[in-house]
Amino acid sequence: MRFLALQAPLPIVASPQMTSMTINGEAVRFTLDPATPLLWALRDAANLTGAKYGCDSGECGACTVIVDERAVPSCTMSIGSLEGADIITIEGLAPNRAHPVQQAWAAEQVSQCGYCEPGLILAIAAMLRANPRPSEAEIMALTNICRCGIGPRAEKAIARASMELTGGDSLDLLARKNATPQTVPEAPKRFSNGSSGEAQIPPQ
Ligand code: FES
Ligand code: FES
Repeated sequence: MRFLALQAPLPIVASPQMTSMTINGEAVRFTLDPATPLLWALRDAANLTGAKYGCDSGECGACTVIVDERAVPSCTMSIGSLEGADIITIEGLAPNRAHPVQQAWAAEQVSQCGYCEPGLILAIAAMLRANPRPSEAEIMALTNICRCGIGPRAEKAIARASMELTGGDSLDLLARKNATPQTVPEAPKRFSNGSSGEAQIPPQ
């Protein structure tokens, strides 16, 4: 059991109380104001900085962690509401980054600036845990926002991870992408700015 308090007090700290939960398989007890957002408890008290601060309103997904097998925005959850919860952050998803989503991320060279990626990887991992062969609608329902445009590569990583998890054939999504070059531009995805993320080379 680890006992954790904020290293630098938040301005809103009121009456600290004990809140116990499991984080990445380890029993943890926070001595903090129960209203403290999980994001700040993770980052400032537990020194788990993989979850990122973005919108602070549950919209962008940068702070996503897995709570009791569901991907949730940690900025919107108070630790007081998480007594006894089982939490997984990007640091604890798998030893040596061996989770199928992390392996697929590397194989498809998804990474760009990285800010959105811990949250997006955890959202995908939770989705595939619930359904290893997600529909395109389920994939499009991911609400994480990326400003760099990794969406198309992330989709390929989802398909690759799904194949790894199921041992099956490719998802329809991957089959379509590999079949023929697309002639019709795709509608912008929620977790993509619609760009390929590649530099535009002017004609010679
Ligand atoms: S910082 Fe939590 S959803 Fe944006
Ligand atoms: S990789 Fe930069 S915000 Fe997503």
